[in-house]
Amino acid sequence: MPPKPKHLLSTQSLKKSEIEEILALAKEMEPYARKEKQGTRMKGKILAALFYEPSTRTRLSFETAMKRLGGETLSVTDASTSSISKGESISDTAKVISQFADIVAIRHSQNGAAKEFSLGSEVPVINAGDGVSQHPSQALLDAYTIKKELGKINGLTVAISGDLKYGRTPNSLAFLLSNYNVKFRFISPKELKMKPDVIVHLNRMKIPYEETTKFEEGMRGVDVLYMTRVQKERFKNYREYERLKNVYVLNKKLVQKVNPKMLIMHPLPRVNEIAQDVDGLKNAAYFRQVENGIAVRMAIILTRLL
Ligand code: CP
Repeated sequence: MPPKPKHLLSTQSLKKSEIEEILALAKEMEPYARKEKQGTRMKGKILAALFYEPSTRTRLSFETAMKRLGGETLSVTDASTSSISKGESISDTAKVISQFADIVAIRHSQNGAAKEFSLGSEVPVINAGDGVSQHPSQALLDAYTIKKELGKINGLTVAISGDLKYGRTPNSLAFLLSNYNVKFRFISPKELKMKPDVIVHLNRMKIPYEETTKFEEGMRGVDVLYMTRVQKERFKNYREYERLKNVYVLNKKLVQKVNPKMLIMHPLPRVNEIAQDVDGLKNAAYFRQVENGIAVRMAIILTRLL
C-alpha cells in the first residue's frame, strides 16, 4: 500500500518539531530562492496550483518555489475554466488532479475545501487558503520572518490587528505561535474579534492574551505588530465594510510616536491600513515576508515529497 500523502491543511495540525523542521529547511533554501543556486531535487515532479479564489503572492510563490527546485507547475487561476463550474465535486476533482500532479496547492472560497480535496487526493495537498478558515503556508512564512528579523520567537509579545474574524492569517498565525512562549494582543473592532476557537485554545493552553479595540494602546510595548486588511469579500453588508475598513491606519508618525522599534508585518495585500510612508522604515518587514515565502514554500514542498 502506498504511504499516506503528507498534507498541510492547518496550523493546528502541525507539531512543533514539524514547524522547526520547515523553518530550518527554509533557511537552507534561501540561496535557491534568491537564484544564487538552481535546485534539482524536484526534477520530474509537478505542482498543481489550483486557485479558485484570487491570489498574487501565494500562487506565484508556490510556482516559483517549485521551479527553483527543478520541478514544473500546472495552474488553474479561474474557477470558471475548470469542471468545478460544471458541478464536479471537489473530491472527484482531487482524484483526477492526482493523476496529473505530484503535489497540489489549493485556494478556495469554501471553509474546509482543502480538507475535502485531501480526502479524494492521492498526492499531498497544501491548503493555500480556504474561506475564512486557514492559510498555513502564510503562517509558516510569518513565523520564519519573525525568527529571521528578531532572532527568536520565544519571549515575544505579538499584536495581531485588523479583521480577526474574517481573516484567515490571524488565526493561522496565532495557532502556530502558540507552540512557542509568546504573549498575544488582539486589536480589532468589536465586530471583528478573534475567532472563538483561538480563544478557547489559548485559554486551554494557558497562553496569555489581551483583547482591545484601541489601536495605539494595543501596539504599545509589543515586539511585533501584524496588521491585516478588512476582508471586503467576506462581508454580506457592504455598508458595514465601509464603516469598518479604515478603523485602524498605521502611518510613520504613529509608529514613531508609539513604538518605533516594533517589527511591522502584514500578509498583504494591504488596502489602506498601512500608509506608504511606513514602507521606508527598516522595521517594515512586509515585503521581506513575500521574499521569505519562496524559501518557506520550497521547504513545505520538500517536506511533503522527500
Ligand atoms: N498573503 C496572501 O495570501 O496573498 P495573496 O492573496 O496574494 O496570495
